[in-house]
Amino acid sequence: MMMNQMLRYGSLAFGVAALAATVALRAQDAPGGGPTAVEVSGEGKEVYEQICQACHMADAKGGGGAGAVIPALAGNPRLADKDYPTVILLKGRGGMPWFSDILTPEQMAAVLTYVRGHFNDYQDPVTVADIERVTTASPPVPDCNCTQ
Ligand code: HEC
Repeated sequence: MMMNQMLRYGSLAFGVAALAATVALRAQDAPGGGPTAVEVSGEGKEVYEQICQACHMADAKGGGGAGAVIPALAGNPRLADKDYPTVILLKGRGGMPWFSDILTPEQMAAVLTYVRGHFNDYQDPVTVADIERVTTASPPVPDCNCTQ
């Protein structure tokens, strides 16, 4: 039990460090700034495994403990409205980083399509047009009602 929890925190810390390292590395590559991209393919599954899984876990059931609660993305009815996860991905919220600086619109569309279709049963894809529409509309970040 304890061991399992320790492993969990260990992998979470590692994932966050790896993410920060990737971002720092890319920033060095492009000293002039401008949009940088994480070196993963446009495959939603790959983006998920390289980035989101560090916090949301491989089974997308999230994790939690002292002060840090990561919501499940699997079986999450809030994802029925595709604008909901799109806003969070674009702007972040609480402990959830925003990804508009490090993922391309194609990667964001792909990972959201993957999360909604693979861990839930929402089969309509999130498209680059959706990402652009939400970016332009700039709706306020929705409040989390994380009581699952
Ligand atoms: C550094 C850890 C971390 C990473 C990496 C991360 N998330 Fe999150 N995510 C969180 C936390 C923490 C929350 C809860 C935020 C809040 O409401 O305060 C969250 C919330 C969310 C939510 C809202 C869930 C809900 O029910 O409200 C979605 C959708 C989401 N994340 C998708 C993703 C996707 C897709 C990725 C990969 C591109 C990702 N996250 C990467 C930590 C992370």
